Amino acid sequence: MTEDCWLAVDRYITDHLVSSDAALESALQVSAAAGLRSINVSPNQGKLLFLMAKAMGARNILELGTLGGYSAIWLARALPAGGRLVTIEVDPTCADIARQNFLREGCADRVDLRVGPALEVLPHIEAERLGPFDFIFIDADKVNYPHYLAWAIKLSRAGSLIVADNVVREGAVADATSRDAAVQGVRRFYSVLAAEPRVTATAIQTVGVKGYDGLAVILVTEGSEAG
Ligand SMILES: C[S@@+](CC[C@H](N)C(=O)[O-])C[C@H]1O[C@@H](n2cnc3c(N)ncnc32)[C@H](O)[C@@H]1O
Repeated sequence: MTEDCWLAVDRYITDHLVSSDAALESALQVSAAAGLRSINVSPNQGKLLFLMAKAMGARNILELGTLGGYSAIWLARALPAGGRLVTIEVDPTCADIARQNFLREGCADRVDLRVGPALEVLPHIEAERLGPFDFIFIDADKVNYPHYLAWAIKLSRAGSLIVADNVVREGAVADATSRDAAVQGVRRFYSVLAAEPRVTATAIQTVGVKGYDGLAVILVTEGSEAG
């Protein structure tokens, strides 16, 4: 099985099941033209996020790591009328592009984009009582994944779903000796997750246009007081 095969199958799936549209295409084009890295979720992963949020009727969604807003647009599309997405991005250039993309998509009224390091922004979100969130997508810097998990649980309720991207890292996650800070961050994330009694979780490996990586899916079973 080669990478060419993963790419062909991803294209096949996307061609059949993920209809492309101008707003999503242009979000990617504008992001690329502005020099943003192409580290957004793939179209079929974006649709997966949309389906999960939609299936659970999420009205209040939190995202860590906006980039140019591609996954945020998928998530905003899952919201019912009156729903809200809060998304956090540290890089002002990415945030500017995301803002333009939200306007073009027509979802700017339901997207609350916060600019700053997530660990500094999250206490404000808690203080403003914007939670509990029904669905939380963790996709920012991997070193801080253990902290993001703790915050996600804090801002959840029983029944919230947390999804964390990039938790396989081309298989390096199984290498305890890895010197990669991102790998070590993700490994600590698994340790915290395994010891956390208020959630039940799994992770799956994924291949495709984004290479070999994986997603963790976490169901919060016990609400947090702060949520
Ligand atoms: C993988 S990208 C997000 C992709 C996006 N979710 C999508 O699929 O379209 C990760 C983003 O997290 C942002 N980021 C990195 N460290 C951060 C931090 N400490 N706080 C908030 N955002 C951060 C990066 O600037 C980058 O835009």
